This record gives sequence, structure tokens and C-alpha cells, in this order.
Amino acid sequence: MALKKKITSAADMLTSAEKVAVLTGAGISAESGVPTFRGPGGMWEDAKIEDVATPQGFSKNPRMVIAWYHKRVRRMKDVRPNPGHEALAEIERRIVARGGEFALATQNIDALHYSAGSKNVLELHGSLARWHCTGCGHRIEFDPDNVPEEPIYQCPRCGRYIRPDVVWFGEALPQDVISAAADAARNCDVFISAGTSAVVYPAAGLVEIAVSSGARTIEVNLDPTPFTNSVDVAISGKTGEILPQIIAQMPEE
Ligand code: OAD
Repeated sequence: MALKKKITSAADMLTSAEKVAVLTGAGISAESGVPTFRGPGGMWEDAKIEDVATPQGFSKNPRMVIAWYHKRVRRMKDVRPNPGHEALAEIERRIVARGGEFALATQNIDALHYSAGSKNVLELHGSLARWHCTGCGHRIEFDPDNVPEEPIYQCPRCGRYIRPDVVWFGEALPQDVISAAADAARNCDVFISAGTSAVVYPAAGLVEIAVSSGARTIEVNLDPTPFTNSVDVAISGKTGEILPQIIAQMPEE
């Protein structure tokens, strides 16, 4: 199918949809300057998953891990949502305005969907801005515009190490968040997978749920994914360019 026809077809699906669910990954933030994980220039090229994204890596070298995430928290103030994030927020506004349901499950921890105006966001892998103490559970929330220059290593209450509220490999996703996302994927009539390699589970399983529950499915991604051949419309391209083009083909509401 030609690109234009795919875009029109995706727009038609969304125009008649009552329930829409979305899964996003690092690709949607790439045009905001946040590096993706896999592939050239990806974050897993200069940091080892087992060092910075596992409980074992944290136990081995907590200060290094805290400093690595602190650097990412510091960078939050310099990144802004791009037209891909904005398009998803606009789709939510339209669906909700006509009495429908919308849920956006994201694997990203950069909070950019919120900055773009999305409301029903399910942060499957947590958030960079929220941290907690590994000892007493004391919670710390960073304001991205006001992050201290140097990392905070220890809990101000009990002195134990603090860590970001992000899900590391080997850890469970927040149960209420993944179940809400699975419900949305099961019950939606249109499902969009955008900017994710769709290889990390359970997040990638949401695409499977949507396909097997009979939703009409759309993929927007630069590279092919394991689901490219199972979705109804697979569009190869940048989310910041394709998603606004889809909206442009939908009638004003
Ligand atoms: P990946 O880095 O695995 O995949 C990003 C995808 O986005 C790739 O398939 C790219 O082709 C695509 N892409 C890049 N730029 C794009 C653009 N401008 N528009 C559209 N697509 C673009 O990132 P995720 O799928 O998010 O987990 O990875 C999933 C999880 O693996 C992450 O949440 C993280 C990681 O390990 C944890 O840390 C637990």
C-alpha cells in the first residue's frame, strides 16, 4: 500500500473509533533529542544494561547508577515534546470530546507525553522525575527545571541510597499500570504502536493483546518490528511526521 493510502486508512480508523489505546517507546521521543535504546547511537551502546538497569548493577555500584540517572534527570529540562507527542494528545482530546475512551501506555520515563498535554498516560516503566529511598521508602520528586547540579545519593531522612522509580530488568512493572494498559489494549477498537521496537515484554505483549482481541491496529515506526506483518496498517517513518499527517486527514471535530 502506498504511504498516502496508509495514512488515509489510519485516519479513517481513528475517525470512527470510540476506544483508542496507544503504546509508545523511545522512538517517539527521538525527535525531541532523547536517544533511543537499541541501534546506532542508542543508550545501550555506551551503558551496559546489566550495569545501569538491573537491581544487581545497582547493588554493585549504587553511586554510579544514581549518577547515571541523575544526568538524565538534569537533561529533562532541555527536552520538549515534538509533533508526535502533540498529535497523540490531540487524538486523545478528540476521542474524549466525542465521549470515547483513550489510554496511552508508554515505555518512556521522560514525561514528555504529559508535557504535550496527554492526560490518561500509563507509565509502564516508571518516571525519571520520581525517586524513592531503598530503605524507608521516602519519596523525592524532582522538578525538571530545578534539579540540583550534583546527584543526591542518600535519603535525607535515613541516609540509605535513593533510586529512581523506574523499572529495571528483572523487576515487575507496577501491577495497576500494566493491568490498566492490558484492559485498554483488550477493549479498544483501534490500537496504535508508535516508536517502539516492540521487543521488550510485557509492554510488547500489549500489541499481541490488541491484535488477538480484534482491534484495528496501526504501527508507526522507522524500522520494522516483530508485529509489522500482523498489524492492519504498518507505516514506516518518523512519528513526528506521520502522526500529524494522520490527523490532517481526519475531519475537524
Ligand atoms: P528501542 O530503542 O528498542 O526502539 C526504538 C524504536 O523507535 C526503533 O524500532 C526505531 O526504529 C524507532 N525510531 C527511532 N526514531 C524514530 C522516530 N523518529 N519515529 C519513529 N520511530 C523511531 O526503544 P523501546 O522500544 O522504547 O526498558 O525499548 C523498550 C524498552 O527497552 C525501554 O523502555 C527500556 C529498554 O531497555 C527499560 O529500561 C526497562
